[in-house]
Amino acid sequence: MLGVCYYPEHWPEAWWEEDAKRMAALGLTYVRIAEFAWSRIEPDPGRFEWDWLDRAIDTLGKAGLKVVMCTPTATPPKWLIDLYPEILPVDPETGRTRGFGSRRHTDFSSAVWHREAMRISTAVAERYGENPYVAGWQTDNELCCHNTAISASPAALDGFRTWCREQYGEVAALNAAWGNVFWSMEYRSFDEVEMPVGAVTETSPAHRMAWRRYSSDMVVRFHADMIAIIRAHSPGRLVTHNFIPMPETGVDNHALAADLDFAAYDNYPLGRADLALAKAPAADFAPLMRTGHPDFQAILFDQTRGLTGRPFWVMEQQPGPVNWANHNPRPASGMVRLWSWEAFAHGAAVVSFFRWRQAPYAQEQMHAGLLRPDCTEAEAWPEIEKLASELGTIDLPAPTKAPVAIIIDHESDWLGQIEQQGRGYDYQKVLTAWYGATRRLGLDVDFVAPSADLSGYAMVLVPALALPTAEAAARLQAANGLVLIGPRSGAKTHDVTIPEGLAPGRLRALVPIRVLAVETLRPDCPGSITIGNTSFASGLWRETIETGDCEVLGRYEDGAPAMVRHGKVHYLATLVEDAALDAIVQAMATEAGLETTPLDGMLRIRRRGDLTFAINYGAEAAEAPAPDHAVFLLGSRTVAPRDLSIWRAG
Ligand code: GAL
Repeated sequence: MLGVCYYPEHWPEAWWEEDAKRMAALGLTYVRIAEFAWSRIEPDPGRFEWDWLDRAIDTLGKAGLKVVMCTPTATPPKWLIDLYPEILPVDPETGRTRGFGSRRHTDFSSAVWHREAMRISTAVAERYGENPYVAGWQTDNELCCHNTAISASPAALDGFRTWCREQYGEVAALNAAWGNVFWSMEYRSFDEVEMPVGAVTETSPAHRMAWRRYSSDMVVRFHADMIAIIRAHSPGRLVTHNFIPMPETGVDNHALAADLDFAAYDNYPLGRADLALAKAPAADFAPLMRTGHPDFQAILFDQTRGLTGRPFWVMEQQPGPVNWANHNPRPASGMVRLWSWEAFAHGAAVVSFFRWRQAPYAQEQMHAGLLRPDCTEAEAWPEIEKLASELGTIDLPAPTKAPVAIIIDHESDWLGQIEQQGRGYDYQKVLTAWYGATRRLGLDVDFVAPSADLSGYAMVLVPALALPTAEAAARLQAANGLVLIGPRSGAKTHDVTIPEGLAPGRLRALVPIRVLAVETLRPDCPGSITIGNTSFASGLWRETIETGDCEVLGRYEDGAPAMVRHGKVHYLATLVEDAALDAIVQAMATEAGLETTPLDGMLRIRRRGDLTFAINYGAEAAEAPAPDHAVFLLGSRTVAPRDLSIWRAG
């Protein structure tokens, strides 16, 4: 099903009915509203104006649309900030208060903000919880967007001290855990604990990890309280949240999604590609400029599905140029439809476009919508018409469990930032590279939390699990498939110290090696790893390992072991180039009995139930790797440029 994001408060009321009719005629089912409408809902403290919103919901509902209502907490109004200036967050880099005038000007540690956010959420949920046209809810909007998970406010300092007391009980335990004897950083009481901001040089890694955990906990608590309010007043309705790319929340995303019915994602392929590939050479970037990278959407679709294990929504789909990247090109013709189909291939239930009509004023006036400001149809319109009619002809089966699991771990990401050790180490790049190998081999993937049950996966990939809990180690040990563990796994204890008996600490129960030393090299000065007869680059992270009772599968240029195996568990002690990952994953897939479909260029495949989707981001037609008797539901064996084919194995 399809949907759209709509802002009735931005348009004359006389337009609403026609807008609603056109939405329904286009084949849209859902319409998300009101996430930024606080100043119109409560124009003065305690004075609510509901009539306009009642009428907007009525107009949309009567046109046959289902409303997704929002809590408007991403944009508290000016009067609230003036009443309670302590709601504003403090930038940890500059120490400056982040002011009113855009959005997300709030501090998750502020008790006043928490109270006010829950107050407005209660008011909206009470008013619309049982409204027959309200099918579901979106909490807030893009939590933590614009780097707002962390604030260095006085409330955050207080909250952090309390949190530390709860975590460590005695200040002596905190001092010991963080290694505070080093550089005379010891505290005499929890009231002396500082935030790890503004120090002369780096603060203790344990201190920074604790701070990240505290900040994450505050966001999770805020979200859980809001969901509880919605559920109390709106029983039986869907509750979701529209995530920004998960690496950017700064939060434990699995915890954040725990109480949702499903997770949603806001998909802006060109904005994201422009930022992520800002330093890529023109020759590499140009072919992707109007399509995005063929793996960048899929990795986040799979992560979004993985947050709850249930079909996800794309709550906001880019329909044309955005306004916020370094450069904002138009999508190639066909891409808006293709991105949407790709989301369905990866298990989406709904794709909703941002936004209905381009605003002629304010910050996003250069951001495309489905309509131009003058109500004429913008470029993506015919693609959405086509998509809607295609969706009407195909019954999408429920997504099935993938054969390969990739463990995703926010704390490994945080450790990579806190203690980078080599400029080239970036957990997200490692994750993307490992995922890329599965994609190039045509293998479907589920992203799972370290605490997930791994039974039933033929292969489990662990790009990094730096601070494994006892539970995560036990889960891995219980996995019945082949396991590949990447470098830096088991590198630290919970409090970011080197584990007793050396890394990989707890994971030694799975693979009895010891990491004796670590080196990181400049990307342009790599060493090598030889696996079988082939050598590959190895440089950004290299561990010297003692192999214990393991078979050696790969060696560095000096003959030292670089990859080992113990039973079903493989340990790769270095970051490697993509070709090495392709070879390793292919060999494991063969052993696991998984059929691979090596793909090159811009074609990717994904299965959903008994359907296979071939998605072609390329400017050239490509051959679908379909069996001889395949029955095509959409497209054909030749996948046209920026197009797709869907088949059922005949
Ligand atoms: C999203 C956000 C929307 C809008 C959009 C523009 O991140 O949720 O409100 O700002 O970006 O692309």
